[in-house]
Amino acid sequence: MDFINKFPLEDSQKKYLKELEGRIKNVMSDSLYCHSINTLEYAGLIAEKILPDFPGLDFFSLGIACLLHDYGKIFSYSELVKIVEENNLKVSSLELKMPQLLHSFVGDYLVLRDFNITETKILRAIKYHTIGYCDMSMEDRILFIADKVEKSRNYEGVEYLRALSLENINLCLLELYKNNIIYIIKGNNLMHPDTVRVWNNICGGI
Ligand SMILES: [Fe+2]
Repeated sequence: MDFINKFPLEDSQKKYLKELEGRIKNVMSDSLYCHSINTLEYAGLIAEKILPDFPGLDFFSLGIACLLHDYGKIFSYSELVKIVEENNLKVSSLELKMPQLLHSFVGDYLVLRDFNITETKILRAIKYHTIGYCDMSMEDRILFIADKVEKSRNYEGVEYLRALSLENINLCLLELYKNNIIYIIKGNNLMHPDTVRVWNNICGGI
């Protein structure tokens, strides 16, 4: 993870991110570990581009969220359901029926429990990296996008989205969201009510 040396971080922050990298390497599959590192690397590329316009960007929190955003995926669907039930987590009955998204709805709880991370903005970025929320912070937009266009992602149109992510972050968010809604409908999948809210928000309706 040598690429973090060029990030605008203090040495202690780089050391912490490297420690986190070691911890996730021990518990994640190779592919999930690589995806997490790639997400951080891509977030760095986007951050570098927009830093002149957003000098207050909290790259350290973003970096932690990138490394841990999919930590919930080390647990099986049934394990996640059990964690929700045993800990009385606020997950709706509809969300419980969304196996592909449940890792994010439970992700904030797991990262707090297993990594003792309490910072609200990191927990929020992790919880919402799948469906987003209205008026997302810039850090959360970057994670949302980097997760879906990092270098190992390979689907039709990804090159266009990658280029867009470095040129116009809001347009990229709109295009990613559009793809997601089309994917949900084509697959006859459940649609989270927040997906509609966020879409209307991105389009300037609310
Ligand atoms: Fe991810």
